[in-house]
Amino acid sequence: MCGIVGYIGHREAYPVLIKGLKRLEYRGYDSAGIVLYDGKDLKLSKTKGKVSDLEVIAEIESTKSGNIGLGHTRWATHGVPNDVNSHPHYSNSGELVIIHNGIIENYEPIKKELIKRGYTFTSDTDTEVLVNLIEDVKKVEKCKLGKAVQIALNQVVGAYAIAVFDKSKPNEIVVARLGSPLAIGIGEDEFFIASDASPFIEYTSNAVYLEDEEMAIVRLHKPMKVHKIKDDAEVIPYVQELQMNLEQIEKGGYEHFMLKEIYEQPNAIKDTYRGRLLADKGIIQMAGVEDNLEKFLNADRIIIVACGTSWHAGLVAEYVIEEFARIPVEVEYASEFRYRNPIINKNDVVIAISQSGETADTLAAIKLAKENGAFVFGVCNVVGSSISRETHAGAYTHAGPEIGVASTKAFTTQITILTLIALRLAKANGTMSVSDYQRYLHELELIPSKVQEALECNVVAEQVAAIYKDATNCLYLGRGYNFPVALEGALKLKEISYIHAEGYPAAEMKHGPIALIDESMPVVVIAPNKGHYDKVVSNIQEIKSRSGKIIAIVTKGDVQVKELADHVIEIPEANEALTPLLTTIPLQLLSYHIAVMRGCNVDQPRNLAKSVTVE
Ligand code: F6R
Repeated sequence: MCGIVGYIGHREAYPVLIKGLKRLEYRGYDSAGIVLYDGKDLKLSKTKGKVSDLEVIAEIESTKSGNIGLGHTRWATHGVPNDVNSHPHYSNSGELVIIHNGIIENYEPIKKELIKRGYTFTSDTDTEVLVNLIEDVKKVEKCKLGKAVQIALNQVVGAYAIAVFDKSKPNEIVVARLGSPLAIGIGEDEFFIASDASPFIEYTSNAVYLEDEEMAIVRLHKPMKVHKIKDDAEVIPYVQELQMNLEQIEKGGYEHFMLKEIYEQPNAIKDTYRGRLLADKGIIQMAGVEDNLEKFLNADRIIIVACGTSWHAGLVAEYVIEEFARIPVEVEYASEFRYRNPIINKNDVVIAISQSGETADTLAAIKLAKENGAFVFGVCNVVGSSISRETHAGAYTHAGPEIGVASTKAFTTQITILTLIALRLAKANGTMSVSDYQRYLHELELIPSKVQEALECNVVAEQVAAIYKDATNCLYLGRGYNFPVALEGALKLKEISYIHAEGYPAAEMKHGPIALIDESMPVVVIAPNKGHYDKVVSNIQEIKSRSGKIIAIVTKGDVQVKELADHVIEIPEANEALTPLLTTIPLQLLSYHIAVMRGCNVDQPRNLAKSVTVE
């Protein structure tokens, strides 16, 4: 994963780099570093820890001046997080310096070869191998940096977004990408380089997103050049206008990004269906679906591939699409799908769901599906991301930037868009009555205000959190549409509070997990007054008779569960298929408050990163 940032132009690079790294810290935060070129020399500071630790070191080491610089925030892959393994890395001569996001898989044989040729290494990283390979090529071929990078990259296997600077030719930075994102911001006689556009949105709204297997040379006072890494063929870069604004990526008065993003859900859901859901006219319109409607309708089945929270959204979609449109759906972990030789036919439609649009396993699953002739549709949040470009068609969720590592608004907006798709297919298939279809459209329009109402449970969620903050285990149970919500609730709790939690279909409890229940086990039961309510009530009774502590998510006005549960958190009334959009809210808030009370780093939980570009 890792975040990379670079600057070349007329400004002091240091503040641009530091601010940029802070915005990219969601990509990894176990170490950080910068290098600056002041017109004469390179000055490098790096450290284990966060960007704030780097700022202290840079102050002490006075690494602050120069109009050219590179910065890196790391999520360790090769080599433990320590000062030495942090980026940037110098080549042996000290002339070249590199930052890298990704993995060079064949670094070991290359390293052995370089050692034979007299190179030495101070770190355990694959990146130090790459920068020395580039140096070696440059010496042997007697070529410029750009050519050396191109030749070297043709020798490596793996994934990368890199930026390389050569002290002996200090008016350019060479960048390249394969499998890891890289955006170039184009200003007035200045260029910004970053893993996404957030580090430079206040400076320019023009950006080029490099495609896989492309490299670029950004030069002072010259237009940038983009080439194919394979054969050096020139590419005309496509300059995009950025939609992001500064306010969207700042905390806006909230203590944490996660809380801000939880509270953004009413608007995020509205943004997801804006222009797509015209309830009064009975219309759902999404260009990516409309243009490929026949493919969806003639599909033998829909295969959904995703990871983590996005996979949970896929599970909700399975229930919704099968129920509404009567098309068979299978939901696969992208990481399993890509390696298990799955049966994929050209009549299959594959839906890939990803907030970041960069998840390596999901990308690989898409490539596999395409190779086998399937039509692949992407549901992504990040505009211009790799997955959105790799898929045949797709729909953005338009949730706005999600910075907190734990996914919140991405989940509910993914469910929203997948529900829209299910309804559109149901209409086309004639598998839903006109009156039901119309009712769902109107109900969907009411969801943002119901989510707003659900957010009022924050006070109760905080009180419940205070009681269970020291729990060591927690069970989450739900049935039907809310089984995936139980999985998502458990994931949220474990990833930010480090409490072990498991989600189960409520009826599965008696096949094993019931053995865990005693007076010290909190059990969160999702029990809206629809669907399998009576069955869930029976499950609650089973927990109660074993002295488990019951935290129930119920519909406002509920009587039966209230009598049994230790605590209830209420959500507004909604149609069963739409309840996941509401039952999720208290679970997000519960996890959030428990994590805060345990003193955990809510926005940057240990060992995690926001976009998982390694497999
Ligand atoms: C959990 C979480 C992760 C992601 C997963 C997939 O809160 O954020 O489980 O959902 O890494 O990421 P995307 O959706 O970017 O493909």
